[in-house]
Amino acid sequence: MIPQRLYVNIDHVATVRQARRTDEPDPLEAARLAEAAGADGITVHLREDRRHIQDADVERLAPAVRVLNLELATSPDVLAIACRLRPYQATIVPERREEVTTEGGLDLSRPAPRLRETIRRLEEAGARVSLFIDPEPATLDAAKDLGVPAVELHTGRYAHGRRRSEAPLDELRRAARHAADMGLAVHAGHGLTYRNVVPVASIAEIEELNIGHSIVSRALTVGMRAAVEEMLHLVRDARR
Ligand code: PXP
Repeated sequence: MIPQRLYVNIDHVATVRQARRTDEPDPLEAARLAEAAGADGITVHLREDRRHIQDADVERLAPAVRVLNLELATSPDVLAIACRLRPYQATIVPERREEVTTEGGLDLSRPAPRLRETIRRLEEAGARVSLFIDPEPATLDAAKDLGVPAVELHTGRYAHGRRRSEAPLDELRRAARHAADMGLAVHAGHGLTYRNVVPVASIAEIEELNIGHSIVSRALTVGMRAAVEEMLHLVRDARR
């Protein structure tokens, strides 16, 4: 089985800071603690509306963390920052201003010159590009056609679905196999928690999980190090 990486999304450390527009808590300090606990990477989403992570955060994180996964939409100013800072990985996501979080995957059903250009420029800057998409066969095929090395499967339908239904998990399993069969690296994330992560972590083809809100929430009570360690135990045990 492919070893699985845990990337910790620290956006909501910045959410707490932005609630008062002050300088604490510090996302860089949180990133260092997550790395010290064994996180394989740090993920941040520089949103067009800058509601949590700010440009200055990405400037400080990029040279300081071992592996940075920068989530971004196709907005030109954020793309320019990404190309200058050259993160290890860039995950392209859709963005709608009114959404609470990234509520669906990219729409790949229409020709997308702007998306192609974003991919080209990120690859030129040396980033490994991943596309955040819903776990649907046609969308996976379209992602493959765009020539990216990786996709991140949106786990929202599984995470927010009715507990007794196996359908969303089966959909993820099928999508992960389909993507891997086409040679795509498979990542997953959105809405994963300590309670629901194990079945997703058990999917053999998924090599990277991106988890944010649940880990940052847990960190408020047990601290960032312990919160990351607890999640790592669940994820690693699921692979045994
Ligand atoms: N992956 C992507 C592409 C996301 O946009 C998000 C949310 O920012 C996550 C993973 C993490 O989701 P959550 O905070 O629900 O763990």
